[in-house]
Formats: sequence, structure tokens, C-alpha cells
Amino acid sequence: MAEFEVSSIERAAVVGCGVIGAAWASRMLLNGVDVAISDPSDNAEQILTEVLGNAVAAYDDLGLPTDGQGTYRMATSVADAVADAQFIQESVPERPDIKAAVLAEIEAAAPVDTIIGSSTSGIKPSTMQATMTNPERLVVGHPYNPVYLLPVVEVVGGEHTPIEVICQAQGIYAGIGMKPVHVRVEIDAFVGDRLLEAVWREALWLVNDGVATTQEIDDIMTHGFGLRWAQMGLFETYRVAGGAGGFRHFIEQFGPTLEWPWTKLMDTPDFTPELVDTLVEQSDAQSGAHTIRELERTRDQNVVGFLKVLEANNWGAGTTIAEHRKR
Ligand SMILES: NC(=O)c1ccc[n+]([C@@H]2O[C@H](COP(=O)([O-])OP(=O)(O)OC[C@H]3O[C@@H](n4cnc5c(N)ncnc54)[C@H](O)[C@@H]3O)[C@@H](O)[C@H]2O)c1
Repeated sequence: MAEFEVSSIERAAVVGCGVIGAAWASRMLLNGVDVAISDPSDNAEQILTEVLGNAVAAYDDLGLPTDGQGTYRMATSVADAVADAQFIQESVPERPDIKAAVLAEIEAAAPVDTIIGSSTSGIKPSTMQATMTNPERLVVGHPYNPVYLLPVVEVVGGEHTPIEVICQAQGIYAGIGMKPVHVRVEIDAFVGDRLLEAVWREALWLVNDGVATTQEIDDIMTHGFGLRWAQMGLFETYRVAGGAGGFRHFIEQFGPTLEWPWTKLMDTPDFTPELVDTLVEQSDAQSGAHTIRELERTRDQNVVGFLKVLEANNWGAGTTIAEHRKR
């Protein structure tokens, strides 16, 4: 485990201001960092202000301060955004060619020792480093949405990233209230998305095979194991499931079921037009009455509620919020 010291920065650049970039910028701003934003889209500033509005409401609900915010400016180019940045977070579309082009633009203008965190959900840092001039400055900093509320960020180095840069990046992320987890082995999709993919594959099969609808699957998650996962992970939950016999008893009892035909994990259904139509129709029926911003606000209010309970119990993600509040 790489030890790091929490550090604070005053100026950052956010390159790409869509779903994730706007949420990164919001977290940084609410933690007092000035942010220069680069995004060629005409909608970028509108997305930012809407997401920031949700973030401010969430911090108010959580009792975290919303005064002392940093200021943002929409930069005229990537170069303009990164020229004096102390840290850069890249959140452009998940395409290796776009990532490579944008990283080249960043490198041409940013101070040579400024760390670049990439939000990529699964591209290996070594792949991105292959075309870089100073690859040692790149880490993956993979967040989970809403980035301004969920503390975790997976920090992954590539073959050219020294441990000192991993530690510095972790310190910067911790300084804006996050829980950096160093993923020591570089694998496709890192840890979180690898787990999510397994669940996603199974859910697609269940819809594809007509076993359950999107609503029924979500009900089973939100009224069952999803509630457990927010406060204890898989392993701690299964330890409890083993009763007094603990984890060993759990494995003795349920280990053999992995040999039963419960799962299709190794295989994925094709996204045929029929399957896509079914998924879209079921999702519209389930959630189409609400706008995305309404759903985001509801999600945030629920997450804030969970975080308050976890902080009161000094448990899980609540411990990160409590430590950040003290700082
Ligand atoms: N959406 C998620 O839940 C999620 C979660 C974790 C990580 N990520 C990762 O975050 C990254 C961004 O994903 P997203 O969902 O925000 O995508 P998005 O499509 O919402 O946003 C991408 C933004 O990048 C901008 N862009 C395109 N080319 C650019 C350029 N040359 N310079 C600056 N900006 C440029 C686009 O205009 C757009 O606003 C991806 O790597 C994705 O894998 C996404």
C-alpha cells in the first residue's frame, strides 16, 4: 500500500466537461480549488452549472460548507486551461484516439511536472503512456458518479508511473475529500468496473431471457443486497452470512454452489435490435416519468442520507466524510 500525505492545491484544470468532468469540477470548486475548464461543446458551461447546482444542494444537505468555493472559468482551449494548473483531470470520451490527442495537447502546454489524472473507466494507463512525451506524470484516477459525493477514486499507475507520482495523486485526491484506493496491478477495467461488468452481464441475460424486467431486477437490488452493499462490502457481508462460523463456514456452505448452473458469467448476450428495444422500453416504463436532473437529485438525496448514517456510525464511506470535515 502506497503511503501518502494529504495535500491541497489551489488551481486545477478539468479537460472534458460532460457527465464526469462537470462532477469533478464541482467537487474541486466546493473544496476551494479554482478550476479552468476546457470542452469544445457549446453546452459545457450549462452542464457545469446544472451539475454544480446539484452538488451545492447535496453539500448543503450533508452539512458540508458551500461558502469558500473556488472560481471557475471556461478556457478557450486545452492549452489555455492547463498552462498554470497544479493538477489536471482528463474526462474526454472513452476512445483511445481522443485520449491520445488530448493528452498530447495537455503535454504541449502544461508544466512538465503537473500530474494528469485520467477518468478512463478501463483503458490501461500504459496504453495511454505509449504515445506520451512525459508518461511518468500520468495516473488513472477513476471516479464513480456522482463524483462530488462518492469518495472513492481508483488510482492506477502504468509501467512508467513512479510510486511517488501515485502517492502525490492520492494526496491531491484526498485533499478534495476523496478516498483514493491504489490499484497496484494494472488490469483492464481496474477493480470496480470489473465487478460491475459481472453484475451487468448477468442482468442483461436475465432481461434477454425474459426472466425479469429492468424494474424487477432493480427492485431486487434496491430492496435487498444493494442496501447491504452501501454499508458493508461483499466480503464483510458474507462473513456475517456465515454466522458464528464466520467466513470459513460461509465458504463451506456456499462454495459448492459456484459449481451449480447459477450463472452465465463467461458469456454475454448480443445487443440485438430486439434486446436493445426491450431494454429501452422497459427502462422508459420504469423511469421515463422523471428527467435525468430529477433522477440525479433524488439519487443525491438518498446518497446523502446514507452518508449521514454512515458518518454517525463512523463506518465505511462515513469515515472519509468525517475525516475530511475535520480537515
Ligand atoms: N459516465 C460515467 O458514469 C463515468 C464514470 C467513471 C468514469 N467515466 C469516464 O469519464 C470519461 C468521460 O465520460 P463522460 O461520461 O463524462 O462522457 P461525456 O460524453 O458525458 O463527456 C465527454 C466530454 O468531453 C468533451 N470533449 C470531447 N473532445 C474533447 C477535447 N478534445 N477536449 C476537451 N473536451 C472534449 C465532450 O464535449 C464532452 O463534453 C470517460 O473516460 C469515461 O470512461 C465515466
